[in-house]
Amino acid sequence: MKQLKYPLMVVLLAVGALLLYSEQKQHNANALAQQGKNIFRFDTFGDQDFWGGTLQLHKAIEGAAHGGVGPGVSPVTALSVGLKVDQDALPQALVKQIQAGKVNLNDPATTLALLKLNAVVGLTGFFNSDGSLKTIGIQCALCHSTVDNAFAPGIGHRLDGWANRDLNVGAIIGLAPNLQPVADVLGVDVPTVQKVISSWGPGKFDAELFMDGQGFRPDGKTAAVLIPPAFGLAGVNLHTFTGWGSVPYWNAFVANLEMHGKGTFFDPRLDDASRFPVAAKNHFGHVTNADDQITSKLGPLQFYQLSLPAPAPPKNSFNHEAAARGKALFNGSAQCSTCHVPPLMTEPGWNMHTASDVCIDDFQASRAPDDRYRTTPLNGLWTHTKGGFYHDGRFPTLLAVVDHYNSCKNLGLSAGDESDIVEYLKSLPEQDRDADHDRDHDGDRD
Ligand code: HEC
Ligand code: HEC
Repeated sequence: MKQLKYPLMVVLLAVGALLLYSEQKQHNANALAQQGKNIFRFDTFGDQDFWGGTLQLHKAIEGAAHGGVGPGVSPVTALSVGLKVDQDALPQALVKQIQAGKVNLNDPATTLALLKLNAVVGLTGFFNSDGSLKTIGIQCALCHSTVDNAFAPGIGHRLDGWANRDLNVGAIIGLAPNLQPVADVLGVDVPTVQKVISSWGPGKFDAELFMDGQGFRPDGKTAAVLIPPAFGLAGVNLHTFTGWGSVPYWNAFVANLEMHGKGTFFDPRLDDASRFPVAAKNHFGHVTNADDQITSKLGPLQFYQLSLPAPAPPKNSFNHEAAARGKALFNGSAQCSTCHVPPLMTEPGWNMHTASDVCIDDFQASRAPDDRYRTTPLNGLWTHTKGGFYHDGRFPTLLAVVDHYNSCKNLGLSAGDESDIVEYLKSLPEQDRDADHDRDHDGDRD
């Protein structure tokens, strides 16, 4: 008996340790996701020293009446440039006052009150002890979150990962009283900066501008690209329209080089002065900061992004029979699945193509190290129909995209086939595939 007891205890101990370990893993996963969510929504990485400190953007927001400059930014103005208000950050009393029409939405003071409540999605105000605005910083959520308009247009519950296609980034940056530092980096004058950023329009931004200094395409149109969603990316290898790197690569790139947070960033590819003159001159491939507020956050930030599923489309937003026919075409004669491999909807592996593979010009591809376009993962297309499709929105509708492939690849699709494929695209991500996964229709809103 004694001999038996000992091994039994070892087994029990081992089982116990395993259970504890798996519980720890679950706990770790939850904690990482929660940390990542807070970073995605609220972390400025110290970038307020740039947006407020250097560009003085907060002065334009508060306006002359509150110690800043100009008319200030009222909530009405803020909503008109696509900024969103998080309804869940508003105290019930304020919600009632707004409903009763007792809040002046044309007064910049109201914007300051909303900033104090941390209710403006993607913007954080830092306040002096006397209540005046000291500086302002931006977050990932500025461009990669929107709201569901549950309260009013532009005011609702947060939808993390959704592309904000209303957001006019150029108009917002253009408000900044001091654009000279941006002009200096680009080696141009301030009116040129204004001309470039005001050409972006809603839903677009140009991260590559600060690498190569190209504000416009050869045809004279803006070189900016659409803001993509930041959900549905788990399993996807390369990211951005031109495949700059992985999710943590790009997160580090953006936080350091675009948001101007304080961190560390390495990419010697940016030392190539013939391709990336601005980046090479400013040593963007070799960023160091004694006070690194980014690197420790890359893990949780990536984890959170990968945990965001592409949201399912509303049930009656597409024709189910047509979508089923479209699916067969997509995986069959239309050859879409040779690149958009279900259920990932991009290639597992190296998901990159030359411009001629998809019958378009190579302007944007040539602005990135690999000279290629990344196969866009198609899940959740229904959330970002505004602004068009392909990196620059050149195709106004999904039908225009399918029609493009039809002629590009000589697919011989009939008009009916094309519209069936469109219904399939509207239905993504497919629902029956893993019904046991509880898909969140509205993104992450707690
Ligand atoms: C000013 C708007 C803006 C902000 C702020 C911003 N992004 Fe982006 N993001 C973009 C744009 C535009 C692209 C497309 C870039 C390209 O292809 O040139 C992009 C691309 C991405 C992608 C690639 C998506 C894909 O389809 O592969 C990820 C991931 C991403 N951003 C995450 C983040 C994170 C995390 C932050 C905060 C650290 C952030 N972004 C901040 C505008 C923004
Ligand atoms: C050779 C590989 C390849 C094939 C085949 C292909 N695609 Fe694509 N697809 C891409 C690439 C690369 C992009 C990104 C283009 C860009 O952004 O400029 C893309 C983008 C798209 C987009 C735009 C997504 C967005 O968010 O803007 C849609 C929609 C799409 N493809 C649908 C299809 C359909 C439908 C088919 C079949 C008729 C198909 N694709 C065939 C590679 C491919």
